[in-house]
Formats: sequence, C-alpha cells, structure tokens
Amino acid sequence: MTEKNRLVLAYSGGLDTSVAIPYLKDRTGKDVVAVSLDVGQGGEALETIKQRALACGAVESYIVDARDEFADEYCMLALKANAMYQGVYPLVSAISRPLISKHLVRAAHQFGADTISHGCTGKGNDQVRFEVSIQSIDPTLKAISPIRDLSLTRDVEIAYAKDKNLPIEQTEKSPYSIDQNVWGRAIETGYLEDPWNAPTKDVYSYTDDPDFSPVADEVVIEFEKGIPVKIDGREVTALQAIEEMNRRAGAQGIGRIDVIEDRLVGIKSRELYEAPGAIALITAHKELENFCLEREQHRIKTDIDKRWAELVYDAQWFSPAVRSLNAFIEETQQYVSGEIRMTLHSGRAVVTGRRSDASLYDYSLATYESGDKFDQNASNGFIEIYGLPDRVAAARDVRFGNGIEVPSDTSFQS
Ligand code: ARG
Repeated sequence: MTEKNRLVLAYSGGLDTSVAIPYLKDRTGKDVVAVSLDVGQGGEALETIKQRALACGAVESYIVDARDEFADEYCMLALKANAMYQGVYPLVSAISRPLISKHLVRAAHQFGADTISHGCTGKGNDQVRFEVSIQSIDPTLKAISPIRDLSLTRDVEIAYAKDKNLPIEQTEKSPYSIDQNVWGRAIETGYLEDPWNAPTKDVYSYTDDPDFSPVADEVVIEFEKGIPVKIDGREVTALQAIEEMNRRAGAQGIGRIDVIEDRLVGIKSRELYEAPGAIALITAHKELENFCLEREQHRIKTDIDKRWAELVYDAQWFSPAVRSLNAFIEETQQYVSGEIRMTLHSGRAVVTGRRSDASLYDYSLATYESGDKFDQNASNGFIEIYGLPDRVAAARDVRFGNGIEVPSDTSFQS
C-alpha cells in the first residue's frame, strides 16, 4: 500500500491555521487540503478564507455550508435535551466539533488523506472532541495538531509567516480566543483569565447591553415534537428559528453567561458566552415539556438531560452512551407540541403563556373554581398510605428519644 501523502486541515482562516498550512507541509511532507465550515459564525466571507488557504499553500481549499445541517441535526438535539453544561452553558463549541469532524473525515476520504489536523491547543476540550469524534467515525485516521504537537506559539507563528510571506495581515486580531456559530459564542483568555475582572463591552457581539434594552418584545414560538416550527405564526426552519431568536433575544441582552467551567482536561477556566437564541429557545422548550411530559418521564428526563450535556461536553457525541440517551430523549418529544408565549426584555426571556392539544394540564383537575373534578376526599386515603413509612419511623424515633424536636414554650400571645 502506498502511503497517503495528503492531510486535511480544519481551516478557520485565522493566524494559527494559516501558519499551519506550510508548517504542516514542511514537517510532514504532506500536501494540505483546507476545509472550512459555515456553521453560522458570520464574520469574514468564506470565499476570502478559502482564497487565503490557497495563498498559504493549500493544494485544495473548500467550503461547506453546513448551517442547516448544524441547526437541524446538532442544535435541535441540544434543544430537545435542554442542554446546559453546569446548568448554564448551552454547549456552543461542544456541538459544532462533531459536525466539523464528520466533514473532515469525508474530505479525508474524498482527497485520499490519512491524517487530519486542527488548530486546537493541548489544554482545551476541543482537541479531545475533534479527535475522539474522528476516531469514532474512522479509527484508521491519524490526528495532528501543530499548536499542540509542534509547539507553535504566537511569536514563532508570526516570524514563520514573515519568513514565508504568508498573507496573514488580514487574519483577525483579537485579544480573546473566540469560537462562534449560530448556537452561540464563546469568549476566553486575555484579561478575562483573572476571574475577578468583569467583562468589558467589547467582549460581546451577539447581545446588546441588557441594562439599556429597547421596549419589551413579545414572541410566540410554536413547537412540533420539540422543534420550533413557527415564530409569531410564520413558518421557520430550525436555522431561521435560531437566527431570529438570536436577533430578537440578542437585542434584549438575553443569554450572557459568565462562568468558571470544569474542563474535561481537569482545568477550571473562566468562560464567557452569549447565546441569545439558544437560551430563549431552551427556556420555551423547557416550559412546553413542563406542560406536556408525564411527571415521572419528566423527572427522569431532567436527569438524562444533565448526563447528555456532560457527555456531549466531554467529547462523547458519537458514543454508544449518547446514542442511547438520544433514543430516550427523542421518544419523550412525541407530545412536546404547542405554543409558548414569552416576553423578551432586559436580559430575560419570561414565559407568559402556553397552549397545546397534547398537554397533560387538565383544567377540571387543577381548578379551584366550580367544575372541579378532583376528588379531594380521596386525598385522605392517599396521605394515610403515602405517609405510612414516615409515621412508623417517627414512632420508632420517639421510642428511642430521637424524635424531631419542637420548641416547648411557644411565644404565642393570645
Ligand atoms: N470552553 C468551551 C468549551 O469547551 C468553549 C471553547 C471555545 N473554544 C475556543 N477556541 N475559544 O466548549
């Protein structure tokens, strides 16, 4: 078998991956195929990015518009799972890595490459997500990270780029490490590494200041089996739903997150995120589940959702465990259909109404007005039996002198 002499690089257009092109070629002797994905990150035109890869010496450079695929198959799964790592982070970067990996593997097969490269450092989660995802799809592929494995640092990169005349003047300069896609935006490093430093305005781009928000915005989102299908009566694709909510919730400053995060590699790091659309949609979806899921199914799902977020955060997107959780989550969504009304204002998305043909809310059971069908007398027997173990245990505790103490003299004045 002849050795394959091509390598596929996940190319972002930034300094790291631009320098990586000739560097990888020099170090490995392999021709570099640059692959860039549009996952709704906005910013620089992808055509510009593609041309830069070629100018840096890539033999092939191509762009994949993966926005709908990302929204439909990745963001919507995260939405159905109400995915929030540590209860606050909607897995922005964590869900894009498996999708990018899939396209990298496809490119490797198409262009006859045996190695895949990415621009991650050796300290983060993303290297693990790329490489574990790639291995899960095609275990024969090798991975290499120039920043991590060839110890490229910023000064070395710039000197190298000057030496090689690389067109890196146009690469974006930012004091932060940023990763963004349609599901949200992650901002780290720089002065934010001091956890006491408050974020400054320049950190944000998906959200406006919640302290100076415009008048309240009321929105009605209709879901079908856990997926948003209409906004204010207009049909939307998953991508359009996220984009519209990014715009509207973003204008109200919704979805800013500042958290100390437990990385998979064991480091605690300070992370800022903004995910206006994701937070608004998850808020609405959660409330619709409150309305439509049976109690025990709902309680179990809350635990499953938490595990799903942790596993996906921990690079397990393609794992058997996540596959099994997906089956559970998918099954629960059968009746998660209906409408949620929310007020978006001053940094908060507040649910103000819900309606659904599939809800388990029964007015005749819930009402305190006439028309009540709930048999209140039945509660006597229910409490009698339900409280039995506690009653028996309490009697034992009293016998042993361990009863729950109550104050002996009351301060009641008659
Ligand atoms: N800490 C987050 C995560 O692991 C965000 C990573 C963002 N990546 C970046 N290059 N800034 O999901």
